[in-house]
Order: sequence, then structure tokens, then C-alpha cells
Amino acid sequence: MSQHYSPEKQGQQSDLSPTQFWLSIALFATLVIASFLSFEQQIRLWITELGQLTTDSHFSILSFALLLVLILALDVLLPVPSSMIGLAAVALLGPVTGSLVIFTGLTMGCILGYLLGAGYLRLLSRTWLSPAEKQKASTMQTHLGGTALVLLRGVPVLAETSVLAAGMQGYPVRQFLLLTMLANFGLAMAYGYIGTALAGEEAFWLVVLSAMVLPGLFMLASWFWSKRTSQLNQNSVNATPNLMAQFEISYQFPVIFSEQIFATANLTLLDLLYPKSQPSAPATKVLIFADASLLQANPDLARDIQRYFDFYAQELTLLAGPIALTAGEQTKQQPVLDQLYQLLLHHGIDRHSWVLALGGGATLDTVGYACSTFHRGIRMARIPTTVLAQNDAGVGVKNGINAFGHKNLLGCFCPPDAVINDFSLLSCLPQRERIAGLAEAIKVAAIKDTEFFCWLEQHHKELRLFAGQASKYAIYRCAQLHLEKITQGGDPFERGNGRPLDYGHWSAHKLENLSHYRVRHGEAVAIGMVLDALYAVQLGWLGQTEAMRLIHLLRQLGFSLWQPELAATDAKGMPLILAGLEDFRQHLGGELSIPLLTRLGAYQNVHEIQLPLMQQALLQLAELGQQPDGSLQWCPL
Ligand SMILES: NC(=O)c1ccc[n+]([C@@H]2O[C@H](COP(=O)([O-])OP(=O)(O)OC[C@H]3O[C@@H](n4cnc5c(N)ncnc54)[C@H](O)[C@@H]3O)[C@@H](O)[C@H]2O)c1
Repeated sequence: MSQHYSPEKQGQQSDLSPTQFWLSIALFATLVIASFLSFEQQIRLWITELGQLTTDSHFSILSFALLLVLILALDVLLPVPSSMIGLAAVALLGPVTGSLVIFTGLTMGCILGYLLGAGYLRLLSRTWLSPAEKQKASTMQTHLGGTALVLLRGVPVLAETSVLAAGMQGYPVRQFLLLTMLANFGLAMAYGYIGTALAGEEAFWLVVLSAMVLPGLFMLASWFWSKRTSQLNQNSVNATPNLMAQFEISYQFPVIFSEQIFATANLTLLDLLYPKSQPSAPATKVLIFADASLLQANPDLARDIQRYFDFYAQELTLLAGPIALTAGEQTKQQPVLDQLYQLLLHHGIDRHSWVLALGGGATLDTVGYACSTFHRGIRMARIPTTVLAQNDAGVGVKNGINAFGHKNLLGCFCPPDAVINDFSLLSCLPQRERIAGLAEAIKVAAIKDTEFFCWLEQHHKELRLFAGQASKYAIYRCAQLHLEKITQGGDPFERGNGRPLDYGHWSAHKLENLSHYRVRHGEAVAIGMVLDALYAVQLGWLGQTEAMRLIHLLRQLGFSLWQPELAATDAKGMPLILAGLEDFRQHLGGELSIPLLTRLGAYQNVHEIQLPLMQQALLQLAELGQQPDGSLQWCPL
């Protein structure tokens, strides 16, 4: 695909003919020159006064310089006439400092624009950038090339749009910086020259003309460039203008907390599945898939389900008894997915029917993936039956299966239609799974909520015994924090590459894989969190005491911090677990981004891992992980 930006296509967007284009430029120039000529005396006086102000003290020069840098840097967010600010900088601070200020301000503006375009500063872009600006940048991004990036630096308005577009397009960062810094350097030099003349005694109108000439020259150059590229394009292909599709969809799904949802007195399911607004509507068709171990551990469940649907037979039609799916992680594979598609087809499931998925994260991931893709999406409610699925996997928007030896390689982002968390379904869950699920609660507390972390510390005994109230609150709060992270200014469909909820996950996924899923997801996450905390201590980001608090809490809850697979190495002696970094980088789409704790309740992303330090952290993990309970001590290496 061609990577060139064509300003002529922008002209087509605004429906300007070439004659109208030139006429508007001439009119604009005449207006600016006329206003300068009419106010020549006042402008001269203003500049002289400002000049005197800056000569008074070093402090005011520095303050002016910083202020002008800031104004130029914010050009992308505010309507700043940068050519005028540039000239003022040189007139006030002299050609050298002035040019330096212009260069710095423009370059910071480029970086800010790129970050905004790339989606790093969502809150800022949502507040300050108008939909029209985003639309313009979004249209431009498909055509933006290096030459356009340089030429547009001098063109008012399009200069800001082009850096936003570069960010949106994911223009290579180094190349972007090199090109924009070179162009900014040229601009700073040119304004340095013009500004010096402005401060001197030369004919005023000539100087003003030169101030106009610079953006004008850039506009001319970009116009000629666009003509040339469009001619080339026309010669090579029949240049049909691109169309842009843009729309927004808002998602909403309830996360319902209830108990004994299959007791006939409980109306939660009925209210969800049968539309109350249409009392004469035909009965809703429902198909239920359930984890085989769940059905085995709770033999009454199938009977309770059948009784519920029999009781509400007028409103709900259960197409078959709960269909058992391969238990646990083994369900996340293609043959099970194929089996699901066949069953959905066989039972005539359409987009008005409902599918209920009962099970842990693995069942929800697989059934969710099948339902998101069958008929391009059918209605589905998740009914999580593990702690981990109730507080994390079930409330998210991701679905997927493992493939070709990689965890979650195939999948999609597709929110469920509802989630029902029924604490009573956890009564048959083995103790190991109950504890494993708490890892996600500790994770979200460690990155986001110190208060919740302290609460977990205070209630570790009840949590270890799975006492009702404490466990219910831990699940509720964890689900709430996950939802907040996804919905409030988060990145639900993971377009950017910052993933705070993936704290400790790069090594966790690898460890699960190396152990052939003998190590549970939550157990692996607990180890992954400690490894990254030890690395953060090595970096000097996290205090030893805070790392030890995390380790203590995990041990008090009954987590093991060491698994034999962590000691496995390749032929060169490199720990196999470290290959998880590369897997994770690929999973993120190219750039590594790993959240590290800076204290309990706060994190920062890093984009590079120093392998020798990570190996040290691994050695320390081995030391700590193999110490007996009750005598846990920090071991300096
Ligand atoms: N989609 C997401 O956003 C997301 C987030 C986190 C984790 N996950 C995925 O979730 C999976 C881990 O979930 P999990 O920890 O729930 O594991 P799981 O689904 O493998 O369930 C753990 C074990 O408990 C059994 N089980 C489930 N419910 C039971 C019950 N009530 N009684 C008795 N046994 C029961 C299962 O058969 C299995 O053996 C991983 O595959 C992970 O990748 C997905």
C-alpha cells in the first residue's frame, strides 16, 4: 500500500478547487499584511517593551523561554499561531536562544502530537481534540509519507494534523523524530533570521512579508508535491479517492451478583432471558454448556437446571440438558471449538437464542469464542464457577483458545451479553482452585488499590479458609476493579500496548505452557508477580519491604512461589521461562510493555527488560520460593 500523504486529497475533502485554493491564500496574505501595516507602530512598541522586560533579569528570560516552549509544545491542542510565537521568541530572546526555544517547543509539540495520535494520552485527546481534528488526522494517516511529514511542518493547521496522523499510523518512531527534528531545525533557523530582522531597523512591511513567506513557501511546496504524487499515482493506478468508514458502538452488560440462580424462586435468569416487555413473545431457546468437572463435582446441578426450565417452560425452552465440555484448560483447543459449532448448528441456535456457559475461565473463553463467531455473534451469558472466573476472566471482554503451542493465540474481543456471579456455585470448587483464583485479586490490588491490598493482608486467614463474607467481598471488589480498569478510560480492546491487568502475566503464560498446564493460571500469575517485583527491586523502583509484603501475602494464602519448570534451561543455559518475554512482545504486536510496581498500588510500564537483572531476580525467586513457610527472609545476591 502506498504510504504517501497527498494534500490534494485534503483539498478534495474540503471541496476546494485549485482556483479557490489560490484565491484563499491570496486573501489570507492580504488580510495579514494589511493588519500588520495598519498596526505597525503598536507592534513595534509592543516588541520593544517586551524586549526591555526580558533584559531586566535572567529570571524573566528563563521564564519567557519556558513559557514560549510550552506554548509551542501545546500547539497541537491549542489554536497557537506558531509563526508569530516563533518571531516573538527571536525578537525577545535573541536569534540563538530564540531559535533554540522554537526548536525545542516545536519538537515537544511533535512528540505530544505523536503520543496523542498513537493513543497513549487518551484522556487528554478526548478532552482537547475535537472529533473534526481526529477525523482529519484519521483521513490523513493512510497517505502520510516522510516528505509530506517534513513539508507539512511549516503549513499552519496541517502541521499539527500530520503529527497526530503519524502517531495514528504508527509511523516508525526513530524516523519520525529524525524527520520532524530536521524540519523543526530548518524552521527555527528561518524564524531566527526573520525575527532578527524584525527586531532591527529594516523596512517593517518587508519583514512582515517574510514572516508570511515561510508558511507560504511550505504550502506551495506541499501543493506541488501533492500534484506530482497524484500524477504519479494516476499514472500507476486509476486513482479513485479512498472512503473512510467511522462509527462508534457503546457496550453495556450487567454483572449480576446472586445466589442459587437455578432455584425456581430466583428470577434472575428468567428476567435476563425472557423479554418482559413482550409478554406474548415465544419462549426463548436456551442451550447450556458446562465444564465436565463442575457437573461431576455438583451432581445436583443438572437436575436443578432441568427443574428451573421445566418450571418456566412457557417462557424458556431448554434445547438439551447441560452439555458437558472437556474440563479445564484442555477445552481451549480447536477440536472442542469445532464440536461447539456443530452443536450450535444442530440445535438451531440463532441470534435470538441464548447460550449459557458454566465453568471456569477456560470454559468461558472457549464458549465465548464460539458464540462470538457463530452467525457472527449470538447472545451469551457467562456463569463463572471458579473464583478466578468470577473475579477476572468472566467479567472481561476477551475470548480465545490456545493453538500451535501458544496460549490464547486465537481469539477475539467480544463482550458477553451478561455475567451472573453465583457464589453458591463455588461450593464444590477444590481448595486449590479457590486459592489460585485469589492471585488475580492480589494482582489488581497491587497495581491499583493499596487499601484493598491492606484488606487482603488483614483477612488472609478467612480467605485461606474460604470463609463466606471475606471471600465474597474479595471476589466482588476484584471484579469491580477489573471492570473499572476496562471501562473507565481503559483500553478494553487493547489497541494500545499498555496492559496493567497483565501484571506478572508474561512469565505466567510461559510457566503454564512449560508445565503443560499442570500449574494453574492463578498459581502461575502469583509467581509471575513475585518475579517482576524482584526485578523492580533490582532496578531500584520498588522497596524491598513492599516486595516482601507481596511475597508474604501470597505465602500466607498458600501459594507456592517456585515450580521446577522455572529451572529449565535451553542448550545455551538460558532459562526457558525468559522466552516468555519474546512471546509476550509478539502478543502485544511488536513493542514490549510490561507493568512493574513502583510501590504497592502503583505501577509503570517498561519497554525493555535487562536480561542479566531478570536472571538475578529469577535466582532470588528460587531462593525465596524454596524457603520454608514461617521463616521467609530476604536473601541478597
Ligand atoms: N478472558 C479473559 O479475560 C481471561 C482472564 C483471565 C484468565 N483467563 C483464562 O482463564 C483460564 C483460567 O481460569 P480458571 O482458573 O477458572 O481455570 P479453569 O477454567 O481451567 O478451571 C479450573 C479447574 O476447576 C474445574 N472447575 C471449574 N468450576 C468448578 C466447580 N465449581 N467445581 C469443581 N470444579 C470446577 C475445572 O474443570 C478445572 O479443572 C485460563 O485459560 C486463562 O487464560 C481468561
